[in-house]
Amino acid sequence: MEKDYGKYFAPSLKEARKRIKKEIEKIKFSFPEHLRQFGKDKKYLIKTFGCQANEADSEKMAGILHRLGFTEADNESEADLILLNTCAIRETAENRTFGELGRLKGFKMHNPDLLLGVCGCMPQEERVFNLIKEKYPHIDLVFGTHNIHKLGEYLYDAYLNKEKVAEVFSEEGKVVEGIPTKRAHDRKAWVNIMYGCDEFCTYCIVPYTRGRERSRSPEDIISEVRELAELGYQEVTLLGQNVNAYGKDLNIDYTFADLLLELREIAIPRIRFTTSHPHDLDDETIYALAKGGNLMPHLHLPVQSGSNKILKKMNRKYTREEYLEKIRMLRKHVPGISITTDIIVAFPGETDEDFKETLSLVREADFEGAFTFIFSPREGTPAAKYPDDLDPGVKKERLLALNKLVNEGYLRGNKRFEGKTVKVLVDGPSQKNPHLLSGYTEHNKLVNFPGDKNLIGKIVDVKVEKAYTWHLRGIISKSHS
Ligand code: 5AD
Ligand code: SF4
Repeated sequence: MEKDYGKYFAPSLKEARKRIKKEIEKIKFSFPEHLRQFGKDKKYLIKTFGCQANEADSEKMAGILHRLGFTEADNESEADLILLNTCAIRETAENRTFGELGRLKGFKMHNPDLLLGVCGCMPQEERVFNLIKEKYPHIDLVFGTHNIHKLGEYLYDAYLNKEKVAEVFSEEGKVVEGIPTKRAHDRKAWVNIMYGCDEFCTYCIVPYTRGRERSRSPEDIISEVRELAELGYQEVTLLGQNVNAYGKDLNIDYTFADLLLELREIAIPRIRFTTSHPHDLDDETIYALAKGGNLMPHLHLPVQSGSNKILKKMNRKYTREEYLEKIRMLRKHVPGISITTDIIVAFPGETDEDFKETLSLVREADFEGAFTFIFSPREGTPAAKYPDDLDPGVKKERLLALNKLVNEGYLRGNKRFEGKTVKVLVDGPSQKNPHLLSGYTEHNKLVNFPGDKNLIGKIVDVKVEKAYTWHLRGIISKSHS
């Protein structure tokens, strides 16, 4: 028999678009006593799609589940609870998730007590929320990006009251501190510094799915990084959709550069951050990076297009010339910095000329890597309504031509380390060849090298013997052997 909804709250695109200036409320996560251990003897599986923000959210959900007494399942068949933490950034990501939802229905037939949940960015979309409700009645639990801290409550309703839960808030101004976290790695950690995005690039769904910009307080961030340092973590990556806007919503005179300078004093070997917006990347941040130390010499700075006409239509708020000037400043003050980017091809109205400007910008900027995408219309965003009559074959050709150029940049970026000794934080056995170890350099280059497993989690010196497009091959320096 079809279960009824207990909690029910649907998202609204109109609400998600709103930006009301008001004080950000900070709340402390509290764990209701009656929930303790109710997940005992139950196993969960979280499948995470999309970006680092989702990975960090999944670690928090796992933290809550462990507090409830759940343990992690090794596979889908032994799970009592499967959560899909979803991504809405492009249509391909959504289609994959819908495929998964259909496939998981089969597991429910074998195990009627299995709970299936969908969370993350997709249910934040009004259209997707309604689709799940109508076409996927086997989904027991639907919640969004603003209410993962209520996971315990939702499970309590679903298990004990045998109700379905669908609760997605469009507008949420809170920052929740103190959610327990079960981190996926024991040497590298994500640290959220802010949530949401107010940029409204015309192609992007994120401002609608993750709400308005909310910064965590510097004290909360600093104490989390200090704690990670004390636990022996070697690297933190600061997360935000637009980290350079950090602090703008706080009523204190404190910027992203201030935060970097304070974190630089903490005894943690490596600090990275993602993602930067060129429009908000200021000189102070560049000067902070120039001080080096634990601030790593790599910057991911999405450019999206090399054509001023397209940048304007994307609402990126900078010109090609301004972007190149930032790159020049970065290279001047942080010699040897590795710069990577994101690029969208075939944005509506992109002509051959516009595309050529993207190619020429890639050459001029000398990127050492890029994530490249074909524009994907996202319902509710302005660009989804722009006329788009480009032939799909031409879109693919542009992507291929761009990738060819980008790959030359990867190789050039790797070649400059041939013969040099680099510091590598060892992640574990190489995915391609388990007889080798692999890890990343300070410039974020992947290195494979033979070595003993007891080096995993350590930072070691590796002499680079040969550079390939996607990785470096090296040998461990004498001091570690
Ligand atoms: N279509 C294609 N790519 C997109 N991105 C964001 N939205 C879209 C879209 N609608 C890309 C941008 C962004 C990266 C995370 O995803 O390049 O920087
Ligand atoms: Fe999307 Fe632009 Fe915000 Fe990045 S800065 S999340 S591309 S709206």
